[in-house]
Amino acid sequence: MDPVDDVLRLTADYAAQFHRTLDERPVGAQASFEELCAALGGPLPDAGADDEHVVAELIAGGEPGVIASQTGRYFGFVFGSALPAAVAADWLATAWDQNAFSVVTSPVAAALEQVASGWLVELLGLPEGVSSGFVTGAQGANTTALAAARGHVLAGAGWDVGRDGLIGAPRVRLLAGAERHVTIDRSLRLLGLGTNALEVVPADDQGRMRADALRETLEAGMGPAIVCAQAGNVNTGACDPLAEIADACEAADAWLHVDGAFGLWAAASPHFRQLVAGHERADSWATDAHKWLNVPYDCGIVFCRHPESHGDAMAVAASYLQRADGRSPSDWVPESSRRARGFAVWAALRALGRRGVSDLVDRCCEHARSFAAVLGAEDGVEILNDVVLNQVLVRFGGDDELTRDVVRRVQEDGTCWLGGTDWQGRAAMRISVSSFRTTAEDVERSAAAILKAAAAATVGGSARTRS
Ligand SMILES: Cc1ncc(COP(=O)(O)O)c(C=O)c1O
Repeated sequence: MDPVDDVLRLTADYAAQFHRTLDERPVGAQASFEELCAALGGPLPDAGADDEHVVAELIAGGEPGVIASQTGRYFGFVFGSALPAAVAADWLATAWDQNAFSVVTSPVAAALEQVASGWLVELLGLPEGVSSGFVTGAQGANTTALAAARGHVLAGAGWDVGRDGLIGAPRVRLLAGAERHVTIDRSLRLLGLGTNALEVVPADDQGRMRADALRETLEAGMGPAIVCAQAGNVNTGACDPLAEIADACEAADAWLHVDGAFGLWAAASPHFRQLVAGHERADSWATDAHKWLNVPYDCGIVFCRHPESHGDAMAVAASYLQRADGRSPSDWVPESSRRARGFAVWAALRALGRRGVSDLVDRCCEHARSFAAVLGAEDGVEILNDVVLNQVLVRFGGDDELTRDVVRRVQEDGTCWLGGTDWQGRAAMRISVSSFRTTAEDVERSAAAILKAAAAATVGGSARTRS
């Protein structure tokens, strides 16, 4: 057989076997960082190795360091798993080695982004005619949207930031909730706006920006303004009151950006879309496909109501960069050559359909409520948030140390994986249900493992077992 054939088959067979045995695997890693570096490292070899050998070595040395986030029992951060059709489509993008720079470099990559972004606009209830870009994640989407916003509001103040930069520019006001995601701050650093420019608007006990406080803050100042609202707080899942925020922005002529990394997917479900009501009135939106749409990493999407401002912030031209008719993917993102992200998004949407995405959102939210019901029924276990979406915050024995110990024990046990956080000054366990694979049985097994860990957890070194 041809050597290319051999190595691709070997890899596909291994991947299929990995997926078949997902349920039997511990969810956490089985090797430390140092062990993995030792297994895969050593001096740079002088001579190369044949392809099959390389892949076999990678599987043997790398598999112990794999987090089985593909299982239905991974509840860390906000991780989706990856739908089989999306994984396969991503393989094709790689096998075809498509560069999603332009229609010329890959007509198929450009066409898939065009189709997939149209489907997403419809699914997420965004206004017709918005521009879109496929970026690495919500971080990239926030940065791209805020670059478009920066140019747009400064142009309104008579300043061309693309040409003249920020030195000497009118001051741009940036308003965001106290519980915004950290990526907003990084975007502001990257864009030269600086975090000191932030006017932080107080949030309520669920982390939602207070619309009344936003209105007051907007009224207290003047000049070009950008407001960063949020659909889906990374801890509680709560969504800012977007309709009231849109009213306040309209009154102040401020640009409204919505960071909806995962929460924007609520718009795809008739049962949850009221949580983000008013989102369609924003000027820009950031979301992730690698979270709730369950496509493989990496894939975020930015949408913008003002294609001209979006294009002005991102597009490039050079005499050698030949153009062809059609939407050019690189006009809307900060990258030049890049992965063809539209393949996996197109495949996920094609595999699920409108109903499938809506069911996926509903199912994850139902599982989150089940976790809250089962765990919250136990003595000494407190659910800290209103479980409105797919996020649950759990606290044990009213104690930080005990709560962190339960999280550590659950991670060591390996039945499921979840992380810890601090919510409004108190330690909490974070459960995020974002995988298409999670079943009621996964929730039952995981909740039992969590309660077992809680029963064995320690405060100040002494065991705290329950009868
Ligand atoms: C609200 C919000 N914004 C932005 C991000 C960053 O997303 P990414 O890591 O895909 O860039 C996250 C990640 O969880 C998030 O929850």
